[in-house]
Amino acid sequence: MKYDIQPADGKLGVLIPGLGAVATTFIAGVETIKKGLSQPVGSLTQMGNIRLGKRTENRYPLIKDFVPLANLNDIVFGGWDVYDDNVYESALKAKVLETHLLDAVKSELQALKPMKAVFDREFVKNLDGTNIKTEANKMDLAKALMKDIEDFKATNNCSRVVMVWCASTEKYLEHADIYETVAAFEAAMTANDPRIAPSMIYAYAAIRMGVPFANGAPNLTCDIPALVELAKELQVPVAGKDFKTGQTLMKTIVAPGLAARALGVRGWFSSNILGNRDGLVLDDPDNFKTKEVSKLSVLEEILQPEINPELYGELYHKVRINYYPPHGDNKESWDNIDIFGWLGYQMQIKINFLCRDSILAAPIVLDLALFMDLASRAGMSGIQEWLSFYFKSPQTAPELKPEHDIFKQLIKLQNTLRHIMGEDLITHLGLDYYQELVESL
Ligand SMILES: NC(=O)c1ccc[n+]([C@@H]2O[C@H](COP(=O)([O-])OP(=O)(O)OC[C@H]3O[C@@H](n4cnc5c(N)ncnc54)[C@H](O)[C@@H]3O)[C@@H](O)[C@H]2O)c1
Repeated sequence: MKYDIQPADGKLGVLIPGLGAVATTFIAGVETIKKGLSQPVGSLTQMGNIRLGKRTENRYPLIKDFVPLANLNDIVFGGWDVYDDNVYESALKAKVLETHLLDAVKSELQALKPMKAVFDREFVKNLDGTNIKTEANKMDLAKALMKDIEDFKATNNCSRVVMVWCASTEKYLEHADIYETVAAFEAAMTANDPRIAPSMIYAYAAIRMGVPFANGAPNLTCDIPALVELAKELQVPVAGKDFKTGQTLMKTIVAPGLAARALGVRGWFSSNILGNRDGLVLDDPDNFKTKEVSKLSVLEEILQPEINPELYGELYHKVRINYYPPHGDNKESWDNIDIFGWLGYQMQIKINFLCRDSILAAPIVLDLALFMDLASRAGMSGIQEWLSFYFKSPQTAPELKPEHDIFKQLIKLQNTLRHIMGEDLITHLGLDYYQELVESL
């Protein structure tokens, strides 16, 4: 049965806390794509196909032609940052895109000035911006954000808005009782409890305004019972955490392959150097801890040592991130993987990925914005686990383990799209082709 999906009429506002490297690469990219100057490579919504029906039917539409997504020409951008650089200046400083490409959309980017941020240096010590709101408590800060959202929507004549967190990684937080219920969370906001992070205030404001919220960083943010409860109550989609780019993308491509062939893995050492502002923030041990926890969970979930101790019981997994300014946004990662095969004979795999962090992250921001808007129009609310494909540490219901295998994540994403559009799900069983052959003889 097809879902009753509201049409994507009117403008879609994409609001972004954190107008740094990822956000500016995303915004500038979309603007140049709108002008026909570049291609949205890496975006599944724009360049990916989906198979429909049987293999013999040869139906492989582009995803954007299959599901009713917002058109790129209908997107308008806005955001908040602790620095007051406009998007053009911020993009120049991020040094991801070449100046000639930025100059082609200079007026559009210069027009985007960050709103005052909700920020607390306790959560990100290595930043010192001053474009910051000064309301008396965290509830008042949330109300100020809600007003920003309302004003943005009216000024830009948007019919819908989504929010994607692209701001810095906050320090590590343990689960606490104030995160358990909406009432406890709201009381803690009013009492200025130090365990309420800025990202939670943005997520709260978005959900209260009916704005879908996706979290691109590893902070807890909306991954707490109180905000999940509020999202369900107000029928708002939420998703997170931590964009899956670079090294973790490789890990979730390679590890399922090794497990598929029942090859053993004894050790996996992952090391990174990066020199952008994200790297500077992660140079602080409290912020690195948040990222480390997010990155470490991936292998155990894919290889499942508890059900396969002979192959994966000895697995030693280590992740290192080092701040190295000369590399800028061009992160370099090395993976040393110690594997073993038939009769326990040892082998090694070395992966040296010279990637561009924000180039990999930008299409994820686009896809999340479009899919979260689709989810909202299709009446899907609460945690959007079908978008795990985009995250290092997918948010799931409390009793569920996240699925990290990128191929299973893709099947889930595509089957969700088929499901909401009333198409048959694809199981890849394929026996029906042979049955039909027998019957036709
Ligand atoms: N680039 C990737 O491949 C990738 C992958 C996964 C996750 N991420 C995460 O995405 C986020 C953005 O990465 P980036 O490379 O653009 O970093 P960045 O440092 O260039 O940009 C982050 C921006 O957020 C701003 N900021 C910090 N706290 C804020 C707040 N409370 N409100 C508003 N603005 C705030 C900073 O001033 C900065 O301009 C980081 O958390 C990073 O860990 C990036």
